[in-house]
Order: sequence, then structure tokens, then C-alpha cells
Amino acid sequence: IKVGILFGGKSAEHEVSIQSAKNVYDAIDKNKYQVTMIGISKRGQWFLDHYFEKGCVPAPVENADGGENLALVLGTGENQLLEVAGKNLIGALDVVFPVLHGPFGEDGTVQGLLKQANIPFVGADVLGSAVGMDKDVMKRLLRDSDLPIAPYVLLHKYADAEMPNPTYQEIAAYLCVPFFVKPANLGSSVGISKVQDEGEFDQAVAEAFQYDHKLIVEKNIVGREMEISILGNENPMASLPGEIISQHSFYSYEAKYLDEHGAILKIPASLPDHLVAKIQQTALKTFKALCCEGMARVDFFLTEKDEIIINEINTIPGFTKISMYPKLWDASGISYTELIDRLIQLALA
Ligand code: DAL
Ligand code: MG
Repeated sequence: IKVGILFGGKSAEHEVSIQSAKNVYDAIDKNKYQVTMIGISKRGQWFLDHYFEKGCVPAPVENADGGENLALVLGTGENQLLEVAGKNLIGALDVVFPVLHGPFGEDGTVQGLLKQANIPFVGADVLGSAVGMDKDVMKRLLRDSDLPIAPYVLLHKYADAEMPNPTYQEIAAYLCVPFFVKPANLGSSVGISKVQDEGEFDQAVAEAFQYDHKLIVEKNIVGREMEISILGNENPMASLPGEIISQHSFYSYEAKYLDEHGAILKIPASLPDHLVAKIQQTALKTFKALCCEGMARVDFFLTEKDEIIINEINTIPGFTKISMYPKLWDASGISYTELIDRLIQLALA
């Protein structure tokens, strides 16, 4: 079976995606799957990458080994063509595993391209990817399904007198300090700040607007931070939950990827059986409410009163060394290699 692994990408999670792709490449069963690595540079150029085969961590930059080109989808029906670096990949690929995080990869755009080219792919379809990427739309759908979320307000970059943004004072009165400012569409905690006062608020908003024109400002939930993995299409299953004990003021990009001791992962989380079951049930409802397929990781808080508050879903969860998605499956009896196999089979089903 010929698998294309897409990695890199145009989002601010480009570097995280490279680490994820390296782990997926290392774990995939090479007797069963013939792998083509397709890198996407930060500028959005696609190329065939041979670094992985040489055992190196690649840097998908312009003019990298294998040339450069945009992906090209031409024609309709049977004449559709997905071309990378001048090579026609239809017929060369049976399935694609997009190991891309953030906008232009996890948000339905690449999924739409692959659908047009008639290539099956791992993970959520266009709609599930798009709603899972946008924290505002995600929260609205969860709220509509009576699933528990943290209170939040929206900020628009181009707010005007007709639809003004709430002021710091209004937000602080509604959410209490501290609270979080987040770009609506991004991951890995890029652009996220925890805010204590008006000065920090102004800074946080300016920083987050560098990544998106829509921000969410969210209540700080006091509780244990947990993650759980989902696998499957119509009848998905949930792993055991894991816990993150962050050594920073929150589970930031730095705590995740830059500081080796930034966070302690407890896998599985130490929880009574009834809570494990309740968390699994809530995560499966979340997966369904957000129209997901194949895989997702659901992140949530568990309060002192044993309330579950859903933080977010990740439709292409991290596969890096510190990433919970594969680790939770490993703890639940599915090895990394078997997990990749199952994900590809779900895409082909
Ligand atoms: N967005 C990162 C990759 C994650 O959810 O793991
Ligand atoms: Mg995320």
C-alpha cells in the first residue's frame, strides 16, 4: 500500500509537524507500507522529500532536495491529478496521512484538495477538520450539544462601532482574572497568553492578532488538565485518559516543546473507574458532535467537584516524542506501529 505523508506546512506549528512526521515515519510498518514523504514549506511550496530515508530530520525549505512545486489539482473525474514537484502522484499513492498541524493542514483545506483528487486520507473530513480548528465554532457546536465548555468572549480584529469588541473591564468583570487570550485558529498553544491585568491584556491581544483575525478570551478553569485519544469512524473508541502536570503557569508552547522538564505526563491518569468512564463518554460525544472521523485527541479539565470541562479537540493531534495521542494508545494496548496501521485502514475503509 502506497502512503503519502504530508508534513511541515504553512502554519505556526510547522516545526511541531516535522517532529510528528518523523515519529510517524519511524513507526510505520515499512513491510506493509511504501512511504512517500511530501514536505510543505512555510511559504506553501510542496516537494518530495528524501531526508527521512537518510535518517535525518528534514527542513522543508524552498529549493530543498527533490525540487519545488505547488500541489496541482487539474480537471475533473478520472482526469484529476495531484502533482508534486512535477511528479503525478495519482496512482503513486493509495492513501495520504496528513501529519500537519494548524491552519492549511488541520483545518479542512488540505482535506478538500485530497478529496478533489480522489485520494483517501487519514483523519477528519473537511467539515470536522474546519470546525475542530476554529475554537469559536467548536465551542458553539459543543454548547449546542449540551457539552460542557468554559465561558468565553470573542474579539475581532476588524471590530467597529456597530459590533465593538468588549473592553478589558467588561471581560474582567465577566470572566475574572486571570483569563486566557487565544487565536481562534491555531494549536500547540502558539499565541496564547494568560492575562492578569490590562497591560498584559493589550500585549496578549496584539500578539494573538498576529496569528488570526478572531480571538477567544476564555475563563481560567482551575482543575487538573487531562487528554484522551479517540480512534475510529462510526464506532469510535476512547483510550485511557492521561494527565498533564505543567511546571509553567499553563501548558504553553515552551512547556510543551522547548523545556524538557516543562511538563510531567501521567499515563494513565490516576482516576477512579467511574470518572474514567464518564470522561470517555464525554470525549466520544465530543468527537461525534464535531463531525470527526479516524482520530482526535480531546483535551479537558477536571475540577475539584469532578466536573469535566472540554477545552478543545485536535483532529490531527501531535505525534511528537512528548505527544499524548500515541502514548495513550500504547498505554491502552495499541502500539505506535499498530496505531498507524489502524489509522490508515480507517482511511481506506
Ligand atoms: N496541536 C498539537 C500538535 C497537538 O494538539 O498535539
Ligand atoms: Mg490544539
